[in-house]
Amino acid sequence: MSKTIGLIIGSQRTARVGDSIAKWFAQTTKLGSNSHFKYEVVDLADHKLPMLDEPLPPMMLNGKYSSPVITKFSETIASKDGFIFVISEYNNSFPGNLKNAVDHLFGEWKGKPSVVASYGFFGGSSSNDQFTQVLNKSFLAMPVTNTRPKMTLNKTMFDEAGKFKDITTDFKPFEQSAIDSVKDLEQLLQDIETKKVVEQNAS
Ligand SMILES: Cc1cc2nc3c(=O)[nH]c(=O)nc-3n(C[C@H](O)[C@H](O)[C@H](O)COP(=O)(O)O)c2cc1C
Repeated sequence: MSKTIGLIIGSQRTARVGDSIAKWFAQTTKLGSNSHFKYEVVDLADHKLPMLDEPLPPMMLNGKYSSPVITKFSETIASKDGFIFVISEYNNSFPGNLKNAVDHLFGEWKGKPSVVASYGFFGGSSSNDQFTQVLNKSFLAMPVTNTRPKMTLNKTMFDEAGKFKDITTDFKPFEQSAIDSVKDLEQLLQDIETKKVVEQNAS
């Protein structure tokens, strides 16, 4: 098993619920015992990226970033073969910090298969659709799984501190789509591997 998937926590507010949802996703889909890949959590909150201010677009920088923080983020993303993005919805779209993180790099992301799993009061549907377009309609050309989990939040799920009271019970309706999205991801990884072998044999 040589593949590694990054489970990306896409929100970075101190009081976020994104970290709990990423944990639920990993447990529900048994990511830790997946036979096709191992996974590592990539928490954008740990990376403290600046707002994009590099002198050239990332595809022209040849990996020469202006700060060790960006270089470390580049190494973190480059070491992954695919991603599961767990993303919130803010004002009918995905969080700005996530776009900033994506925009900092290019080759590190390019062509790598991904799951987009969103949450919000309407399942984070707009966030999910818009972020999927960013990944697969841009030059990043990242294939996104057909199954894109959309987890619907409801005020009754939260305690007074804004934390989940019982995410295991409340997120039951979303378990199957999370599991299916991981199966789709395994298939996309396999398709890429098969294509590589065919191309090598043809050359
Ligand atoms: C600035 C802001 C805007 C929001 N806009 C939306 C929205 O458009 N649609 C929605 O369903 N939820 C919206 N919400 C609610 C979030 O989905 C909810 O707060 C969620 O917990 C945010 O994810 P996080 O806790 O990981 O940051 C918004 C929350 C914030 C902070």
